[in-house]
Amino acid sequence: MKRIYLDYAATTPCDPLVLKAMEPYFFEKFGNPSSIHSFGQEAKKAIEESRQALASFLGAQSDEIIFTSGGTESNNCAVEGVAYALEKKGNHIITSGIEHHAIAEPCKFLEKKGFRVTYLPVDKFGIVSPQDVKKAISEKTILISIMHANNEIGTIQPIGEIGALAHEAGVYFHTDAVQTVGHMPVNVDELNVDLLSLSAHKFYGPKGAGALYIRKGTRIESFLKGGDQEKGRRASTHNTTGIVGLGKAIEICKEKMQGEMVFQAKMRDKLIKELSAKIPEAYLNGHPTQRLPNNVNLAIKYIEGESILLNLDMLGIAASTGSACTSTSLEPSHVLLAIGLSHEIAHGSLRLTVGRWTKEEEIDYVIGKLPGIVEKLRAMSPLYDNK
Ligand SMILES: Cc1ncc(COP(=O)(O)O)c(C=O)c1O
Repeated sequence: MKRIYLDYAATTPCDPLVLKAMEPYFFEKFGNPSSIHSFGQEAKKAIEESRQALASFLGAQSDEIIFTSGGTESNNCAVEGVAYALEKKGNHIITSGIEHHAIAEPCKFLEKKGFRVTYLPVDKFGIVSPQDVKKAISEKTILISIMHANNEIGTIQPIGEIGALAHEAGVYFHTDAVQTVGHMPVNVDELNVDLLSLSAHKFYGPKGAGALYIRKGTRIESFLKGGDQEKGRRASTHNTTGIVGLGKAIEICKEKMQGEMVFQAKMRDKLIKELSAKIPEAYLNGHPTQRLPNNVNLAIKYIEGESILLNLDMLGIAASTGSACTSTSLEPSHVLLAIGLSHEIAHGSLRLTVGRWTKEEEIDYVIGKLPGIVEKLRAMSPLYDNK
């Protein structure tokens, strides 16, 4: 059976050119980059080249990048690292109610340690109001963390504006850019951020490799303590292969991104238009225009998202209801509840995310099949009978 992958927001396949670039660092170039000898030095050189490639994509300096094990570590490191470095200055953190768990959980952890966290609401499109951020800032505020684009509904936040407000108040500003880096322009100065998280497996690099941008002068506690790798900011032997893969992946994105954004937005808009027309009572979640070029998220009334996924999977189509990290939970998505959906409607969401290898005929195939699946499931749904 032909398989169609429409879950690029959960993870992307590794680009073959990325794998090719990584390969020598498993074998003949396997040295520890902290070693003085030539084996170590050739690995170190490759790491520094990746750092440079990433810095150039972000408009940053290469010594403002530390490599991590992925988005989760970068987010934990940003939130807890700043909180502990600045705990004498203040104990208040501002974030939103729609952040990924990799932000929400460290915030909850810090609350248990005596920090105070404000979780800002969002509007019906999932946008955080910069004015709400401004109002929430107090003299105790040490960090604001608002995600660049939401992983479920694709809404892009006014990060530059929020960053400017944070800086006016002298507060550090972090953004979780895991869903945007590699998919749209991300410039740390335009976004006014002090810290920014990213993850290679979301942009055709390997899993288990990520980075945290830390603006020069930003005070942050080292998250992993041990050796003096990453200038003492993150201990542990470098994941050379992963870092080389991340560097190659970002170089490829830099080259292909403009064209990919145009094609993906075309596929996204086709899915939204055709599916909303062909499926009665199906509505777009997230912002109509301020959204990721590759993200479609639909609320489909009267049925469960999981049943749609299983039926799509039987046809070889891989989709999602929201975040892959919570796909085993029966609770409706906190993001969909935050934009004001009822529990019942939030259970009926479907996320389709396109990517580098998506073909238009695949999109047409899904458009052809999904309305029939919804009709079949609704025919069996007590919710539909009682509407
Ligand atoms: C917005 C966002 N932040 C953080 C993460 C976690 O990244 P990683 O899987 O690299 O730990 C994800 C992954 O789904 C994400 O979408």
